[in-house]
Amino acid sequence: MSKYPPIYYSDYLQLDSLLSSQKPKSDEYGHKAHDEMLFIIVHQAYELWFKQILHEIDSINQMFTDDTVDEKSIGIAASRLGRITEIQKLLIEQLRVLETMTPLDFLEFRDFLIPASGFQSFQFRLIENKLGLSDDKRIQYNNVDYLKTLEEPHRKLIMDTVNKPSLIELVTRWLERTPFLNSENFNFWNSYKEAVEKMMENDRKIILENKTLTEKKREFQLKNIELTKENFDALFDEQKHNGLVKEGKRHLSNKAMLAAIFINLYRDEPILHLPYMFLNLLVEMDEQFTEWRYRHALMVQRMIGTKIGTGGSSGHQYLMSTVDKHRVFTDLFNLSTYLIPRSELPKLPEELLNELGFNFTGGAGHLK
Ligand code: HEM
Repeated sequence: MSKYPPIYYSDYLQLDSLLSSQKPKSDEYGHKAHDEMLFIIVHQAYELWFKQILHEIDSINQMFTDDTVDEKSIGIAASRLGRITEIQKLLIEQLRVLETMTPLDFLEFRDFLIPASGFQSFQFRLIENKLGLSDDKRIQYNNVDYLKTLEEPHRKLIMDTVNKPSLIELVTRWLERTPFLNSENFNFWNSYKEAVEKMMENDRKIILENKTLTEKKREFQLKNIELTKENFDALFDEQKHNGLVKEGKRHLSNKAMLAAIFINLYRDEPILHLPYMFLNLLVEMDEQFTEWRYRHALMVQRMIGTKIGTGGSSGHQYLMSTVDKHRVFTDLFNLSTYLIPRSELPKLPEELLNELGFNFTGGAGHLK
């Protein structure tokens, strides 16, 4: 016998209130539209999953708020990010269920919804803000501030996020604190710079010595190397990098970028593997949101063509512009620009390699 009182399935899940929360407007106005039930349930399912995603993001942000984040927390945070990405796959797939409703069927009840729109999903805005989509990076349609479309309690919830550090800010601070980059006999910055210069010099030599290239092709390839060099220059020059951050072209600080590059380059070292997985999952999550935005925009075009949305935006056109502009972790995507082949990596000093490894020597006999 459990020491807790018995509970009935339906009460535990509050099914009475959950299942009586579908009230089609078409029924209320006496113009029954069969598909409005699907429309409501799909949206409600999304909002429930948004709630779960927020639950995970809040816990991750909390872990990263402290001045030190222990290894255990990074493992837990990575598992929770993994959970979010699994939910996102469902969210993308779920659009197919809604697409069984045809545009003509949607027209049966669309006018009853004006001016309500997913644009007013305060949970979606909370997710965006808590991840780090700042107001200055948002696309505004018709000069409408998204906050103005929300009712006061929801606006207040969103305003609260503005005063708290977002995940990208917390991750930046955590990366900036990465140890190992500088020790008595190792300076990652200098060694990496040298390795990059050597790699580009080598590439330049290969192009110049390649006799099969036409002059035009050679010029093109040398120009490409110059472009790569410009990218590296912007990374090596802190002032240049800060300028790009100010212009909104970079999100992570110079110090954080360097740490992220170090983690990516030396990811095979045991201590760095978990941080690498964590950074990779941030990229995965950002990619899935981008994919959802794109799929939603396509569905909207199929459903309403080029009509304006019920919320009053340019509809498909507005949504397509958010696909690229509302991404948060683009700097982590772009890290690959700065990766160099394993064979060219600066060799780490022995003491550092020891610190990065798991050096278990005592305890349970079978692990010795
Ligand atoms: C028939 C199906 C749908 C249509 C035609 C549609 C249409 C639109 C349109 C036109 C917008 C732009 C704002 C506006 O002018 O209203 C929008 C925004 C939005 N919709 Fe949908 N939508 C549909 C289904 C969904 C579903 C199932 C969700 C899930 C929650 C959703 C979530 C959102 C969100 C979060 C936004 C804001 C996007 C942003 O501002 O970046 N929509 N929708």
